[in-house]
Amino acid sequence: MKRIAVIPGDGIGPEVIAEAVRVLACVQQKYGIAFQFEHFDWGAERFLREGVTLPDGALQTLARDFDAIFVGAFGDPRVPSNKHAEDILLGMRRGLDLYINLRPVRLLHERLTPLKNRSEREIDFVVFRENTEGAYCGAGGFLKKGTADEIATQEEINTRRGVERIIVAAFEYARRRGRKRVTMADKSNVQRFGGDLWQRTFREVAARYPEIEAEHQYVDAMAMFFVLDPSRYEVIVTNNLFGDILTDLGAGIVGGLGVAASANIHPGRVSLFEPVHGSAPPLAGRGIANPIGAILTAAMMLEYLGFDHAAGAVERAVRESIAVGEVTRDLGGTLSTREAGEAICQRILRD
Ligand code: NAD
Ligand code: IPM
Ligand code: MN
Repeated sequence: MKRIAVIPGDGIGPEVIAEAVRVLACVQQKYGIAFQFEHFDWGAERFLREGVTLPDGALQTLARDFDAIFVGAFGDPRVPSNKHAEDILLGMRRGLDLYINLRPVRLLHERLTPLKNRSEREIDFVVFRENTEGAYCGAGGFLKKGTADEIATQEEINTRRGVERIIVAAFEYARRRGRKRVTMADKSNVQRFGGDLWQRTFREVAARYPEIEAEHQYVDAMAMFFVLDPSRYEVIVTNNLFGDILTDLGAGIVGGLGVAASANIHPGRVSLFEPVHGSAPPLAGRGIANPIGAILTAAMMLEYLGFDHAAGAVERAVRESIAVGEVTRDLGGTLSTREAGEAICQRILRD
């Protein structure tokens, strides 16, 4: 029995998570894997109603009682400070020490990329985004706030341990999966301190993996090469903020945020799975959001829990649905969120 904490969150979160849970129920039926889902109502509604973001004791409960956490998205125009999202999402990433944000950039069908003449084989890499520090540390402040001389500072924290463990995770992944190259992206030409630590640590870790090519690239150039030559990438490792930005760009070259999946991992511990996209307020409540990002995220969770076969079946069903055009309008189809989820379920059951 695998116990899954489900936190649908805000906006399109509940709509896409419902479809991914439907797919997991089909997997349960087809492969005899037993799941027990417990839903949590953390998000903007609860925050606006009760002032609660991440309830007291939540992290302990998640770590003690669950095998995985499955999340939709947080973000609501009624909470312009984004406080609840910060407390809940960043609170779980940091509080559970989920230091690896693994975000695959994989083209599932030629038709989905806006790039010219690119096949599935040519866009297939993973981004290891550092997930607990960097610009997300919340440090900084104001001087002379509200005056014409106001200064806002925003700090970044890079620790040797934090930088080393994400770089090691990227190289270990490359070794395990037979990937030949790890590319580290930074902005060490201007970010003297953090950049220097990333550079030194990358060189030291790379020396332990002589069979894997270690390449460095400035993140601005990497953004260009994502578009001009994505086939050069196999495994990318970068900091929290650059990883956030690059993975939305990565989603853009494989069909958009509607198809992008992600995992927040601490190996051996309870880990958190969420699509890359946010709450997409313009789509919310209309039944048109693409559930594929959430469904492929569920496949990553299945793989993490050791059900590789079921994860493969979900991926296959998604690919087939895309190939025949049984998809939502962002991918050129006409299906609703629910119909797209049901189509994938039917394929899994027929498989
Ligand atoms: P977003 O990812 O929510 O959406 C940007 C655009 O991408 C949408 O308007 C839509 O055109 C498209 N899109 C996203 N998901 C889609 C889907 N499933 N199907 C089809 N199209 C989809 O980013 P945003 O608009 O910048 O942010 C909205 C809110 O979400 C903000 O409050 C932001 O902070 C939050 N956010 C949360 C998370 C998270 O919880 N993990 C991630 C990103 C953004
Ligand atoms: C993501 C989101 C979050 C991030 C926000 C909502 C805090 O953009 O998961 O990619 O910046 O990490
Ligand atoms: Mn993001």
